[in-house]
Amino acid sequence: MMRIRPFVEGDLRAVLRVSEESLTEEYSPILFLEIREALPDAFLVAEVDGSVVGYICGYPLTAFEVRIAMFAVLPGYRGKGIGSALYAEFERVARKRGFRIMRLEVRTGNRRAVEFYRRRGFMVVKVLKGYYRNGDDAYVMVKTL
Ligand SMILES: CC(C)(COP(=O)(O)OP(=O)(O)OC[C@H]1O[C@@H](n2cnc3c(N)ncnc32)[C@H](O)[C@@H]1OP(=O)(O)O)[C@@H](O)C(=O)NCCC(=O)NCCS
Repeated sequence: MMRIRPFVEGDLRAVLRVSEESLTEEYSPILFLEIREALPDAFLVAEVDGSVVGYICGYPLTAFEVRIAMFAVLPGYRGKGIGSALYAEFERVARKRGFRIMRLEVRTGNRRAVEFYRRRGFMVVKVLKGYYRNGDDAYVMVKTL
């Protein structure tokens, strides 16, 4: 059974594992705790049979704008609606908190994620050349809530 719930500190190790298996950049544990401090109710994990298999988190850029910082589901659990459920709950919390704009960066070559966001109303507004450590470019995508 899958459920979405807020992140708690005890999830840190599992969230780092999901990141290592899903994301190319490396993230320090402190970064996750800082993000949780910035916007606690929007740091969400997806649990399947008691194990964390995905998460989404973000933080405010201004009083009106929120940035999705990280979003990942373990490879073996993708394509089952878990990412959609995490994203939907994140957007619900963002609306409830009064944010008007959502923003994120995504690798231009990450077609699955780019299409995921497009289908949810995001638009590409900018390309950031060499944004990632390995030199990959990023799209900046935004959505008005
Ligand atoms: C992006 C990500 C979080 C989506 O999670 P997920 O659990 O697979 O999401 P879902 O199962 O809800 O599926 C999302 C969409 O992908 C589609 N999909 C399923 N399998 C797919 C596949 N093999 N290839 C492309 N799209 C696929 C689904 O049909 C669904 O379409 P929809 O947008 O019309 O609903 C996940 O793919 C992931 O962790 N990717 C690696 C990390 C990443 O790219 N993060 C985002 C960077 S900003």
